[in-house]
Amino acid sequence: MEFQNLLIENKERIQYIIINRESKLNALNKDTLAELHLAFTEAFRNPAVGGIIITGAGAKAFVAGADISEFTALDVEGGTALAREGHANVFDLIANGPKPVIAAINGFALGGGLELAMACHIRIASETAKMGLPEVTLGLLPGYGGTQRLAQLIGKGKAIEMILTADMITAVEAQQFGLVTHVACPEDLLTTAEELLQKILSRAPLALASAIRAVNAGYTDGVNGYETEIAEFGKCFGTKDFKEGVDAFLGKRKAEFKGE
Ligand code: COA
Repeated sequence: MEFQNLLIENKERIQYIIINRESKLNALNKDTLAELHLAFTEAFRNPAVGGIIITGAGAKAFVAGADISEFTALDVEGGTALAREGHANVFDLIANGPKPVIAAINGFALGGGLELAMACHIRIASETAKMGLPEVTLGLLPGYGGTQRLAQLIGKGKAIEMILTADMITAVEAQQFGLVTHVACPEDLLTTAEELLQKILSRAPLALASAIRAVNAGYTDGVNGYETEIAEFGKCFGTKDFKEGVDAFLGKRKAEFKGE
């Protein structure tokens, strides 16, 4: 599939989705969001793709936010629709996806950019990265899941301070807060992401999907996460991967998972 605002690269079972609007610091305009919807839908469907690394083109930005130039035409209805569609088509799609997604934060991750990274399952950052939710400086608040996911990831106290002050934090601070789990020098960022993803991809794919669903469940309104965990745990016993994993352990050999 050809995209105007994304680059797609495949490296064995890893697919790179690279946001490619460098002159606008990879800001998310409507077209880019629509392309992200298509790219992730296809990556989750394609059996050749085991997991995804999302990053930004160039050295300066992961994503510097939603495209502010598109905000001027919006009224209350338009703003509500923008947020609702963004949640469903991109941010929740990624967060609830069945394959692991790592955000490799290579520079500014602001507003919708940080929200995009937070929708991913794992975040690692270049030591040059800066992160923040500056929406209140525009008379807005984070509208792509930021108020919920930042509080889930770093706790309500720190999250509300970051959102109300609009302050940016460094990669090292983000790691201290638990917002990112690894910090690498810029040259090593993608190798670090690949090594992490390769390790995850050696595990049983259906169990990974179940684990993502179970971890997410507790953060979904009205869903009992423990019940989801019980159901997903039980489902795994019906998979060939489970039989292979146990056979391999008992036979003292490496498991060969097929995602079946
Ligand atoms: N939406 C639209 N365009 C954006 C953008 C955004 N979120 N962020 C950056 N750009 C554009 C700039 O308008 C500029 O375009 P131009 O060259 O056509 O004028 C280009 O990207 C480069 O950005 P610039 O501001 O000149 O770079 P800088 O190094 O001086 O500053 C930032 C970098 C990230 C601090 C600054 O761009 C910024 O504050 N961006 C907006 C961040 C934000 O509020 N995001 C939340 C949106 S809800």
